[in-house]
Amino acid sequence: MTRKIGWIGVGRMGYAMAERLARSGADVTVWNRTREKAEPLAAHGAKIAGHLAELAACDIVFVMVSAWKDVREVIGGSQGLLSAPDARTKLVIECSSISLEGSAELREMLRARGIELLAAPVSGNAKVIKAGRLSFVCSGPRAAYDAALPFLKMIAPSASYVGDGELARIVKICHNVFLGVVTQSLAEITVLAQKAGVPRHAFLEFMNQSVMGSTFSRYKTPAFVNLDFKVTFTPKLLRKDLDLGLDAGKRFDVPMPLAATTRDLVQTMIGNGMTEEDFAQLLLLQAQASGMTLAPENVPVDDGLS
Ligand SMILES: NC(=O)c1ccc[n+]([C@@H]2O[C@H](COP(=O)([O-])OP(=O)(O)OC[C@H]3O[C@@H](n4cnc5c(N)ncnc54)[C@H](OP(=O)(O)O)[C@@H]3O)[C@@H](O)[C@H]2O)c1
Repeated sequence: MTRKIGWIGVGRMGYAMAERLARSGADVTVWNRTREKAEPLAAHGAKIAGHLAELAACDIVFVMVSAWKDVREVIGGSQGLLSAPDARTKLVIECSSISLEGSAELREMLRARGIELLAAPVSGNAKVIKAGRLSFVCSGPRAAYDAALPFLKMIAPSASYVGDGELARIVKICHNVFLGVVTQSLAEITVLAQKAGVPRHAFLEFMNQSVMGSTFSRYKTPAFVNLDFKVTFTPKLLRKDLDLGLDAGKRFDVPMPLAATTRDLVQTMIGNGMTEEDFAQLLLLQAQASGMTLAPENVPVDDGLS
């Protein structure tokens, strides 16, 4: 608990995660490319770094940015963590959703400097983090997982260790392929039920109570019923994950017809300019394709998280 923790990246996910760590009393120093986004964390006891290389004075450094190219930049770039000549850091915990290949390259880059990597992507959005329901899936050296666990537990109640190397990446990729496909399927059946005469809130109330209901279907219900698409996860990040899934399918000779169709629907959403709001806007795309214009139902619905 006396270890110094560094945190790179306070976007929607990183902010909520770093906030939990700081509020739990960890000694956290945060860096974000857009510094202003990190500053409110000072109120929870975090220190704000002006330069990434300052984080090399930390024992453990978490990373939560967007894609592999961004991870490579914050770690190995000319101003990155490794640009500090004498890093004290012994462990990097990388939480972004990235490819197996990127993760392996990162492991090698860090190994050359005597730093271990724990691959630790997550399931859940920022609201899920606040509700204390996030889960980590981890891979890498078992001892690195054991060292990380007390800090992971400050952020999330659940962490699973799935083995060596980059195995956690494939678990997370599979998870997000499922997220995209399930959301598209939920959009299709919700629009079908409505077009046949069932209000969305009544349909989803039944679905959520049925054996097919889930934590996810419940927390997307307010968006589907009342059309509040304040972003939790952007369509571009979902497209990245579906592309990672399709690439993995090619690599392992696994056909993924549902993922391929969903990827193209997400691309259609992006092509139509639906980039700044939540990926749950797949519902609107489905309604448009069905000749319907949806209106908010203005019915209070429980998201199962509050
Ligand atoms: N949102 C979700 O529900 C969710 C759930 C699970 C996993 N994920 C994954 O978690 C990761 C973060 O997602 P998010 O929703 O938090 O994204 P986000 O809100 O877009 O935040 C992205 C963060 O990465 C930083 N960043 C991006 N490119 C960078 C670069 N080249 N150099 C330095 N910093 C860079 C951004 O800095 P600035 O602030 O300066 O832009 C920001 O802090 C992604 O890999 C995503 O797939 C997301």
